[in-house]
Amino acid sequence: MLKKILGTVLCAVIAVTALTGCAGSGKKKVGVSMPTKDLQRWNQDGDYMKQKFEAAGYEVDLQYAGNKADTQLSQVENMINSGCKVLVIAAIESSSLGTALDKAAAKKIPVIAYDRLLMDNDNVSYYATFDNYKVGQIQGEFVKKALDLDNTDGPYNIEFTAGDPGDNNAGFFFNGAMDVLKPYIDSGKLVCVSGQTDFDSVATPEWSTATAQSRAENIIGSNYADKQIDAWLCSNDSTAQGVVNALDSRYTLKDKWPVVTGQDCDIVSVKNMLAGKQTMSVFKDTRTLAERTVTMVGQILDGKTVETNNTYNNNKKDVPSYLCDPVFADINNYKEILIDSGYYTEAQLS
Ligand code: BGC
Repeated sequence: MLKKILGTVLCAVIAVTALTGCAGSGKKKVGVSMPTKDLQRWNQDGDYMKQKFEAAGYEVDLQYAGNKADTQLSQVENMINSGCKVLVIAAIESSSLGTALDKAAAKKIPVIAYDRLLMDNDNVSYYATFDNYKVGQIQGEFVKKALDLDNTDGPYNIEFTAGDPGDNNAGFFFNGAMDVLKPYIDSGKLVCVSGQTDFDSVATPEWSTATAQSRAENIIGSNYADKQIDAWLCSNDSTAQGVVNALDSRYTLKDKWPVVTGQDCDIVSVKNMLAGKQTMSVFKDTRTLAERTVTMVGQILDGKTVETNNTYNNNKKDVPSYLCDPVFADINNYKEILIDSGYYTEAQLS
């Protein structure tokens, strides 16, 4: 008798599993592929998504690829082979996942590009991100206001540090900032003493703090022995941290500390902000992006209309996109934006 009951239960489990396509839990599985654990933000993105997907009743396969494009490729292929119903991918290199995306398409698995657009492939269903161009614009506008470029004569010295050339976002950040600042460079009010103002010269592979630091040390050593630096436009916090380290070790005019921009509001950078070493950081609330992505996945899997508010072209198609709004944080508003909103506790920043 017991054998018969057990047999019936087992059959029922097998039947449910076959119907849902997800061994064990009976839940639909979502594959979440994140670039690296090295940067605070991706840990937060991954954690929030896992929490929110699980709360919405999904199983989650969350993987980090250690900033190695080939590792990410095989992790995504495993997700496809292990029954994930939808993929959420923040790519290490925008164009390197083509074979996996083709496999996903063959199995009708929708793909959401998360934060970073997946380039050069038709099989990208949606893109969830912050407005990347606006991030750069906010940084450029911050520098413009801090130096009061419209009402003072200058000239002011400025240097630039941008992001990873393999990350499609990096160009948007840089162009957003440059579109604000270039007129002042052209008029001579802003002077880049190193002469390095094009994206390729100022890019930082892998957004590495160490690489940003050694380039900044060289620039300071060769150009600013007795010259003031008024602003250093950095596209994000990991690169800003490198620049701040370089200023700490090489810059002699410590009482004329430059305006230093960033992005992400990493704890290290917010602490630098409180210490007066980084001036601002663009805040992209990872909770908002995670929630938006969970909503998108729900709409996809329930066959509903997927809410979008923009499109981004990935060289193959216009990818329907949802752009969240970035805001800037500095010493004046960080409490409201970062602490009152529950993003950080006071203790985390002290
Ligand atoms: C993200 C930034 C992040 C950078 C480095 C970009 O794609 O949009 O928020 O700072 O990657 O990880």
